[in-house]
Amino acid sequence: MSRALVVIGSAKGSPGATTLTLGLAACWPTSARRPRPLVVEADPSGGDVAARFELSDSPGLMELAAAARRAVSARVLGECVQLLPGGVHVVVGPTGAQQAAAAVGLFAGNGAGLLRAGMGSGGSVLVDVGRLQAETSGLVAAADRLLLVTRGEVDALAHAAAQVAQLSLPRGRVELALVGPSPYPLAEIRKSLGVQRVHQVPWDSRTAHCLAGRTAASPRRWRTAPLVRTVTDLAWHLEALVAQNSEAAGRDLTKPTATSGVPGQAAEKSWEGGGVR
Ligand SMILES: Nc1ncnc2c1ncn2[C@@H]1O[C@H](COP(=O)(O)OP(=O)(O)O)[C@@H](O)[C@H]1O
Ligand SMILES: [Mg+2]
Repeated sequence: MSRALVVIGSAKGSPGATTLTLGLAACWPTSARRPRPLVVEADPSGGDVAARFELSDSPGLMELAAAARRAVSARVLGECVQLLPGGVHVVVGPTGAQQAAAAVGLFAGNGAGLLRAGMGSGGSVLVDVGRLQAETSGLVAAADRLLLVTRGEVDALAHAAAQVAQLSLPRGRVELALVGPSPYPLAEIRKSLGVQRVHQVPWDSRTAHCLAGRTAASPRRWRTAPLVRTVTDLAWHLEALVAQNSEAAGRDLTKPTATSGVPGQAAEKSWEGGGVR
């Protein structure tokens, strides 16, 4: 079983789900026993990661979806993974919408169970589903946490509220990531949407560009960048959730050290994803 399955998605538009997903993976508090999470891009509207980082979209979700009809071993999962600058491992989604919808459709039904099994006992998985749609409802329902990403304007929040109501997930499993400024107090947003937490994600174009592969990050600036600080805190919060899961399962609980994968820096060579060999 993977340590945690976190699904990141949005209600409408393009508020920053992929950026947040890659930021979380890059800033995850890692240690020898706590590998960086694997990112799976399962956006039925088409993936962005391959194009942004000038990768082929194969191997990726298409291959994983085809394998998922049988069973996903750690080896098969490892064969579908590509490495981003800074050491984030990702299963990229097909860029084309038609192919992406087909791959996600194939994968999403039993993908959560297969990912958990394929990851073994080591790593967590961050699944970027893009805008929440019927195709990905199985992944959302199986997640330990759904991070719903939204902008802070009234219309965006109204769509997020409608999405939360429609999901009918237990309140404790949905958290909101609010990208950029909002005229409303966080407590008010949390109450009116009925979500467990609201995380404010700062508008930080420089870091967002690094996380989109447009520019290389400077290690000195990276550590103090507003978006990096915030996603690091959010990653710690999610890691604590993982620790709770582990405690329940009687696993190791030694404190991890915070490390940050700096996009544009030399990538870590080996797969850290705990169990994917
Ligand atoms: N926190 C942020 N600060 C500045 N720009 C951001 C932030 N998050 C996302 N962006 C930018 O917004 C655009 C959409 O982001 P993306 O992560 O692709 O959204 P989504 O996955 O929801 O479609 C990109 O150009 C990205 O660089
Ligand atoms: Mg996206």
